[in-house]
Amino acid sequence: MSLLEVRDLKTYFYIGNQVIKAVDGISFSVERNETLAIVGESGSGKSVTALSVMRLINPPGKVIEGDINYNNVNLQKLSEKQMCMVRGDRVSMIYQEPMMSLNPAISVGEQIREALLIHKTVPKSESKKRAIQLMNFVSIPEAQVRYNDLPAKFSGGMRQRIMIAIAIACNPDLLIADEPTTALDVTIQSEIMELLRSMKNKLNMSMLLITHDLGVVAENADRVIVMYCGKIMEEASVQDLFRKPMHPYTVGLMKCIPRIDSSVDKLYSIPGYIPHPSQFPEGCRFNDRCERATDKCREKMPELIEIHEGHKVRCWQHHD
Ligand SMILES: Nc1ncnc2c1ncn2[C@@H]1O[C@H](COP(=O)(O)OP(=O)(O)OP(=O)(O)O)[C@@H](O)[C@H]1O
Ligand SMILES: [Mg+2]
Repeated sequence: MSLLEVRDLKTYFYIGNQVIKAVDGISFSVERNETLAIVGESGSGKSVTALSVMRLINPPGKVIEGDINYNNVNLQKLSEKQMCMVRGDRVSMIYQEPMMSLNPAISVGEQIREALLIHKTVPKSESKKRAIQLMNFVSIPEAQVRYNDLPAKFSGGMRQRIMIAIAIACNPDLLIADEPTTALDVTIQSEIMELLRSMKNKLNMSMLLITHDLGVVAENADRVIVMYCGKIMEEASVQDLFRKPMHPYTVGLMKCIPRIDSSVDKLYSIPGYIPHPSQFPEGCRFNDRCERATDKCREKMPELIEIHEGHKVRCWQHHD
């Protein structure tokens, strides 16, 4: 039994007379102790997928279809109160922009302590001690002293460490990390990823890791799903994906990775842009940017089909 099982999830936004199909029928699972990465360009539906799992989609957005089972419990059937206990307690999420998710007016230590108290992880009398332990655990120097500092006194990397401390405060089984390092300097990025990896291993968590960085995927993920325009285009183990990417979109993403042995003027980018979700092309949604597109690709959308064990692709080139 998977820890998280998502079936045919559709999350649409209704704006005026436009329907924005942000997530359009995706299925995936996250196994225990596994890191599943979701990759794709900006606007492909990664965050909306994560927010749908957390039940944090608000009007004009709506989950219109699909099942989200966590530990065999259908999350959509829970009351908001029950869902609050799942969030932070069983599933935690860390966001792209740490400054947005921390309260600027409350000291970081108190914010960690609050997370502990909401979920009744420790008795009140021990909560401050535990919060300081957590700050030490995520390697914040002089935790005892810095407990009382406001978020603004910390660097971006340190703030992200505090977010991680809050996220793991209640020993969740699943950590959803939405672009956890995008807002940070490159050197800090790898430190934060290393911290996440070690937390995941020490606490036996599963991780849903959202990123557009294939380097981060290669170093951290067990399996990968590649999203484009609200659809899964390819799904594979990390080894299979890098060894034998099948979808032209995945191949394009890989060509975009800068290589140490190539000069800057050879940097590749996939031609064109991801279309606005109210204007997806007919057929395969990638067809207008695909060098290999044929008439069939412009007419009919291929299904996501398993080609080898665990390796699925949505592309006519591999179906026929
Ligand atoms: N609140 C909203 N209202 C309207 N459209 C939305 C809303 N949230 C997301 N969308 C649209 O849904 C699509 C998917 O958005 P999403 O935020 O999931 O992309 P993403 O893959 O996370 O991109 P990024 O890498 O930039 O974070 C986008 O076209 C976006 O414009
Ligand atoms: Mg996003």
